[in-house]
Amino acid sequence: MKIAIGSDHAAFALKEAVRIHLIESGHDVKDMGAYTPERTDYPVYGEKVARYVVSGQADFGVVICGTGAGMSISANKVPGARCVLASEPYTAVLSRRHNDANLLAMGARVIGEGLACMIVDQFLDAEFEGGRHADRVALITKLDENRESQTNILS
Ligand code: RB5
Repeated sequence: MKIAIGSDHAAFALKEAVRIHLIESGHDVKDMGAYTPERTDYPVYGEKVARYVVSGQADFGVVICGTGAGMSISANKVPGARCVLASEPYTAVLSRRHNDANLLAMGARVIGEGLACMIVDQFLDAEFEGGRHADRVALITKLDENRESQTNILS
C-alpha cells in the first residue's frame, strides 16, 4: 500500500519508528515531514498528509503529534479526510470497518512504539464493511459538501 506519514517535532522519533516499520512491512511510504526534531507546527503536516490522501496519491495517511489531537483536528478540516485518533487497536479497526477512515492519528506522548506499530498494522489490515455504514459515510461526505453553506445534512 502507499502510505503517507507526517508528524510534528513532538512525534518525530515515533514517526521515524513507524515509517521504518511500514517500509519493513513492504509498504511504499511517503514521508511528508517533519524531517528534524526542531520545533514546528502540527497543522502544517496534518493538512499536507490529508490532502495527499484525499487527492488519491496515497491509500492511507498516518499523522502523529504529542497527543494526536492536534493532528486529527487539523487533518479533518480537509474535505474528504476521515481521520481517527486511536490509542488502541479496537478503535483503529472499527474506524476502518464502519467509518472508512482514511487517516490514522496517534499520540507519541500517549503510546509507545510497539503499540503504535500494532495499531497501524491493524488499521491497514481492516476493511470497510460498506452496507449501512456506507450510507453513514455518505452523510459525512455531505457534511463536507455543506460546509460552506452550513446547511444541515438532513435538510
Ligand atoms: C506540541 O507541544 C503539542 O502541542 C503537539 O504535539 C500536539 O500534542 C497537539 O495536539
